Amino acid sequence: MIQFCDAGTEIPSSKLLIKSGTVVNAHHQHIADVYVEDGIIVAVNPNIRVGDDVTIIDATGKYVMPGGIDPHTHLDFDVVFTTTVDDFFSGQAAALAGGTTMHIDFVIPLNGSLTAGFEDYEKKAKKSCMDYGFHMVITKWDETVSREMELVVKEKGINSFKFFMAYKGALMINDELLLEGFKKCKSLGALAMVHAENGDAVYEGQKKMIELGITGPEGHALSRPAVLEGEATARAIRLADFVNTPLYVVHVMSIDAMEEIAKARKSGQRIIGEPVASGLALDESWLWHPDFETAAKQVPSLVSMYVMSPPIRKRGHDKALQAALSTGILQLVGTDHCAFNSTQKARGIDDFRKMPNGVNGIEERMHLVWDIMVESGQISVTDYVRLTSTECARIFNIYPRKGAILPGSDADIIILNPNSSFEISAKSHHSRLDTNIYEGRRGKGNIEVTIAGGRVVWENNELKVAPGTGRYIKMPPFSYVFDGVDKKDAIYLNSLQAPVKRPKTSS
Ligand code: URP
Ligand code: ZN
Ligand code: ZN
Ligand code: ZN
Repeated sequence: MIQFCDAGTEIPSSKLLIKSGTVVNAHHQHIADVYVEDGIIVAVNPNIRVGDDVTIIDATGKYVMPGGIDPHTHLDFDVVFTTTVDDFFSGQAAALAGGTTMHIDFVIPLNGSLTAGFEDYEKKAKKSCMDYGFHMVITKWDETVSREMELVVKEKGINSFKFFMAYKGALMINDELLLEGFKKCKSLGALAMVHAENGDAVYEGQKKMIELGITGPEGHALSRPAVLEGEATARAIRLADFVNTPLYVVHVMSIDAMEEIAKARKSGQRIIGEPVASGLALDESWLWHPDFETAAKQVPSLVSMYVMSPPIRKRGHDKALQAALSTGILQLVGTDHCAFNSTQKARGIDDFRKMPNGVNGIEERMHLVWDIMVESGQISVTDYVRLTSTECARIFNIYPRKGAILPGSDADIIILNPNSSFEISAKSHHSRLDTNIYEGRRGKGNIEVTIAGGRVVWENNELKVAPGTGRYIKMPPFSYVFDGVDKKDAIYLNSLQAPVKRPKTSS
């Protein structure tokens, strides 16, 4: 059940004691009580004693962990002809029901202006019921963009910029812009992010599929194979190396891209790789549904809900991405939640190029990562906290306010019962979507309580949320990923001068 409270409704937040749970941080776990006052964690200790005015939640036998932070979402996202069904209220309500208490969304410039884009997203996010931050997308290059980048970093709390190497004719940028953008990011201490697919080659692939008469949703995956993701990932990594700036690769969907990241990290480069829930949990076998040929219209419409870019890959990529996550090649998990319903998806049923790209995940990520990674023994519970929350907070420079159960941290907390289970369905989820790519999926571990900003917003399968209660979280530049970048530059400059200083040999 959802209780949608009116804007301005007070959801009690004052004093809470979470008793006897296993408190898990990215570095350590122990049994303790957690005492919260006015939205802040005040104490984490065994046997905390409190007065009668404190609400007590028993967490015996359960894990008490930092709320999830989703580094990659698209709420209230306008594409050319439509808008995602989840806005900043419905998407966040869904997130809270699934144990995510903060997300970072992508601001799209408005008529080329970064500040106008920021103001547009500020308005969209007014109805927020949980905390959020913003990345900014860069779609063109000139002096104004360069100046606006500086302004949004210094005054608006943005510390990351996304460059699309795909979506030719729309958001795609070329290598020249990528280089200018990387240089500017470096000077500002802002993280460069890339959507890595070779957009020119994808365009060719799409033409080829249409010529071959492959116009349905399967044409989407066939037109943009993993090799094009690998190529763009390698190119972005090399350009970031050339500039000597850290790089964040969003939605890593393939072995091809993951191996480029592994290689670069092994050579000492600062590369962050973000797999998303769909890439870890699914493969493209739905494309080869046995009824595909016969149920001409019905199955394609079902299949279309899986259409995203880069595409969900063949079986094997999912397992390889899981292994990369467990061994530290990839660092954190996002969702790329970008929800279009079946009517919106139907627009591209006879021409996959017209289908809006994107899948759900903001509500399912925390359960899926627990089930796929922890229950399979691939990662520890502390790793789970690191991959779903802490590392995101560190990368985007808001740790330990977020991503930790420590005195002084925001009281964004989940209680997960490892002996319970979950089941996913469009019938019971909280997104406005009429489908769910994880329909019918069950797993172990259930998030029974979500506390956001000190308020219990999810308990007993009931959501209690009010628009306007979420806050914008400013993210300062120069997070830890920039440590040492200047030293590497100095060593490089020194190495250039060495030949000049070398004494001349007389002949
Ligand atoms: O298909 C996707 N991924 N849609 C959202 C936009 C993006 O590329 O992140
Ligand atoms: Zn401890
Ligand atoms: Zn993308
Ligand atoms: Zn995205």
